[in-house]
Amino acid sequence: MTTVLITGANRGIGLEFVKQYAGEGARVHACCRNPDKAEALNALKGDIVIHGLDVSDFAAVKALGEKIDEPIDIVVANAGAGGKDAGDFGDIDFDAFSRLLQVNTLGPVATLEAFAPHLKKTKGKFAAISSTLGSIENAGGYAPAYSTSKAGLDMAMKSYAALLAADGVAVGPFHPGWVKTDMGGPSAPVTPEESVAGLRQQIAAMKPGAPHLVAYNGEVLPW
Ligand SMILES: NC(=O)c1ccc[n+]([C@@H]2O[C@H](COP(=O)([O-])OP(=O)(O)OC[C@H]3O[C@@H](n4cnc5c(N)ncnc54)[C@H](OP(=O)(O)O)[C@@H]3O)[C@@H](O)[C@H]2O)c1
Repeated sequence: MTTVLITGANRGIGLEFVKQYAGEGARVHACCRNPDKAEALNALKGDIVIHGLDVSDFAAVKALGEKIDEPIDIVVANAGAGGKDAGDFGDIDFDAFSRLLQVNTLGPVATLEAFAPHLKKTKGKFAAISSTLGSIENAGGYAPAYSTSKAGLDMAMKSYAALLAADGVAVGPFHPGWVKTDMGGPSAPVTPEESVAGLRQQIAAMKPGAPHLVAYNGEVLPW
């Protein structure tokens, strides 16, 4: 049986990951900030264990790692924020920018630190949901705070991929496409179903060692 852990599992791409993995019979640890309010998640059928988790509470992430005492095959660090409150050039809110880095960059790092022992037992996979906006080569000044947070995430994933390769653990960042969620908005061309079906294929193909930034449809994007 495959065991999966997903952060930000109550809506959007994270909720769809729970649906699809649980739907094919996996055991899913579904993490979200407010389990009591996670109606769509609570309504899902399957082997789903729901945990309260704010990924920017690093002590809580570590404690959850200690509490879940079982091997895990796949961790999807999906939780993320758009960072609109961080502002733009000339009007940056540095407190909000710092909070964004804590959620989008350090949250996945804390998640990987906490669950590396579980993944080592299965020679498992750690997938971080990043964004093409984190590509340094493509950077054009759009959403500087969000882009910086995802570029930092990509760097962390490439570093940790090297650190964990000898243990047989694959680590890498993925771009989900422009997806119709609360973050992506109604004009986005990709549905959560399409995005997650593609991401699951890319995750299944992950190998230990140097990763690429890979899109949901398999396209390799520039760092
Ligand atoms: N949609 C797109 O077009 C797109 C494109 C590129 C990358 N992405 C990335 O894909 C991931 C999922 O995005 P989405 O489109 O599904 O966004 P979404 O619909 O806005 O959902 C975001 C999820 O992250 C959770 N979250 C936010 N801050 C958190 C925190 N501190 N701790 C734990 N959970 C937290 C939210 O929980 P609450 O409900 O508690 O707020 C929610 O479950 C994000 O990393 C995002 O950056 C999305």
